[in-house]
Amino acid sequence: MGSRIVATGRAVPRTALTNSDLERYMDTSDEWIRSRTGIGQRYLMRQGESLAEIATDASRTALERAGVKPADLDAIIVGTVSSEYGFPSFACQIQQGLGISSIPAFDVAAACSGFVYAVQVADAQMRAGDFKRVLVVGADALSTMVDWNDRRTAVLFGDGAGACVMVTEPGNRGVLSSLLRSSGEHWTLLSVRATGTRSTIDSEVRRSPDDSIQMKGPELFKIAVKSMEEVSRLVAERAGVKLEDIDLFVPHQANMRIISAVAERLGMPPEKVYTNIDRYGNTSAASVPIALDEALEQGRIHDNSIVMLNACGGGLTWGANLVRW
Ligand code: UT7
Repeated sequence: MGSRIVATGRAVPRTALTNSDLERYMDTSDEWIRSRTGIGQRYLMRQGESLAEIATDASRTALERAGVKPADLDAIIVGTVSSEYGFPSFACQIQQGLGISSIPAFDVAAACSGFVYAVQVADAQMRAGDFKRVLVVGADALSTMVDWNDRRTAVLFGDGAGACVMVTEPGNRGVLSSLLRSSGEHWTLLSVRATGTRSTIDSEVRRSPDDSIQMKGPELFKIAVKSMEEVSRLVAERAGVKLEDIDLFVPHQANMRIISAVAERLGMPPEKVYTNIDRYGNTSAASVPIALDEALEQGRIHDNSIVMLNACGGGLTWGANLVRW
């Protein structure tokens, strides 16, 4: 018995901030941001908005499309590093938003790899017979963690949530294999020392530079390319699938240059690679499920398509899920 993703959903905050808007806040330019990252705009949380509500909206869409009632879920697993509170977890807040109780709901903290990690955890528990219907969410609001005086990080991140419903199913469709990796020795390449999503771009609450996102971009870039390539090869090998038989590569959207470098190393032509970084920026754990949801909406994935989900982020963490649709 395996697990299959039967439907997806996404939701983002109301406000889009373009690169030109950012030029008014800091010494940057649309040209630099586009050419170095591929980002054109991003959606940002504003005061009064709740990431838990945004994630609940994405979840409702996925559940409606799946034809699964919230009350029929067996578990909620959320990849996130953006707590609204120290606790409860986001998963418990989403559970409350959906009006259900009793079932287990918990977060998985793996930064940008959070959704890929959560899919693996859901798949393993479903294969073990623990759950039949699981809501898996990736949600983050890293814009609330940046130092708006640090142009090296402030231009990169956007906020949002993506969700999917996974159900157990016999047969050869669904998650074929997953592989997760971490290297704690590299944690200082990308970190945030204080949590909380209250310091939106328009709020009085300001993080100190020390408590904001710290990133060693160029070092991280090199490791991201290497690890995303490596895990792609391994997860395909484990499933007995040739790289050329993969129909769509849905990578974490951190930097267009990272995505292109990984795709090139894997021999994936651009038409097999889904990108939307130009419109969302880096939405951390939300990036893979938002991209997946758009790819499905655009008819880029069909029955039996082989799809690779892949991410790398703070921790460092990285991983991939190979799925037959
Ligand atoms: O999601 C988790 C995984 N994340 C990643 O994997 C991110 C990996 N890293 C990256 O994507 C890239 O390293 C960045 C986009 C973060 C930075 O791009 P880069 O090409 O590595 O730039 P850099 O940090 O080497 O900076 C080059 C120059 C510097 O100026 P000098 O020192 O050469 O005069 C920066 O000060 O670009 C300058 N710079 C900017 N200029 C205008 C940095 N940020 C900006 C900016 N606008 N926003």
